Amino acid sequence: MENRNWLLKVEGLTKIYGEPGKNTLHHTGPLYHTNQCPETGAIVACADINFTLYPGEVLGIVGESGSGKSTVVKLLYFDFEATSGNAWLNEYNHGKTNLLNESNQRKRYLRHHKMGMVYQNPRDGLNFEFSSGGNIAEKLLMAGNFHVGNIRKRASGLLTATEVPVARMDDTPLSFSGGMQQRVQISKAIANNPPLLFLDEVTTGLDVSVQAKVLDMIRRLQQELNIAMIVVSHDLSVIRMLTDRTIVMKDGRIVEKGLTDQILQDPQNTYTQLLVSSLL
Ligand SMILES: Nc1ncnc2c1ncn2[C@@H]1O[C@H](COP(=O)(O)OP(=O)(O)O)[C@@H](O)[C@H]1O
Ligand SMILES: [Mg+2]
Repeated sequence: MENRNWLLKVEGLTKIYGEPGKNTLHHTGPLYHTNQCPETGAIVACADINFTLYPGEVLGIVGESGSGKSTVVKLLYFDFEATSGNAWLNEYNHGKTNLLNESNQRKRYLRHHKMGMVYQNPRDGLNFEFSSGGNIAEKLLMAGNFHVGNIRKRASGLLTATEVPVARMDDTPLSFSGGMQQRVQISKAIANNPPLLFLDEVTTGLDVSVQAKVLDMIRRLQQELNIAMIVVSHDLSVIRMLTDRTIVMKDGRIVEKGLTDQILQDPQNTYTQLLVSSLL
């Protein structure tokens, strides 16, 4: 492994739904314009995903709907089990243990101490039966913080940082606007100061003006906390605004990766060229 101080290293990350045949990986992907195996019908949601993320860096994953972006972050957050691949976190056992092979108990530890996830749909990340403060408390409790006074103080600090009125702490997110629900989700995801945050289409579906404010807030938090992020979006303006480096996916594979500025100004891959010129 390289000497530079990496945070997360991913190698060969692959997820196949259904029964793969021996040619499944050879007959799918961008060259074949499909992620579905013509012989068995298996879906290659993602395959052979490799990248390294450095501390405090923001990596984008862009591509059209169904290209496998969400699958990549959900595998890394252990929402689904990978078919194969390795992922190492430098802060976990000195980067020597493949996270994907860990026990469910260790994966829970990793989710609550080392990672945060913000889903496109706030209902995936928040419990709408709990208050917004209660949602944050849940995450703090998972990491062993049991002091009620400290929990309330931390929750109000997090809501302030994400620009949610603290007076709404005891209200359920059900009564919140979409933008505010995402802010609460972000509060919860960063509650235990993880070094790594996944954001999956977090502004998709919000009004453009709300989108801009939430993106501003995310960028400010990123700079204040120096938290590394993987930002999944089909929207190049989100990728442009938030990310340092970008991975472009199509049909479950990476077709191009590099500095975001370079990818947007001088894309090398034909598919990326179409994407950037907004022909897609
Ligand atoms: N549970 C599942 N069963 C079968 N196929 C799935 C499942 N989840 C996702 N897929 C398929 O995997 C591919 C990648 O999905 P996804 O990662 O959600 O793409 P994206 O986030 O880029 O839109 C899509 O073809 C999708 O239909
Ligand atoms: Mg998705």
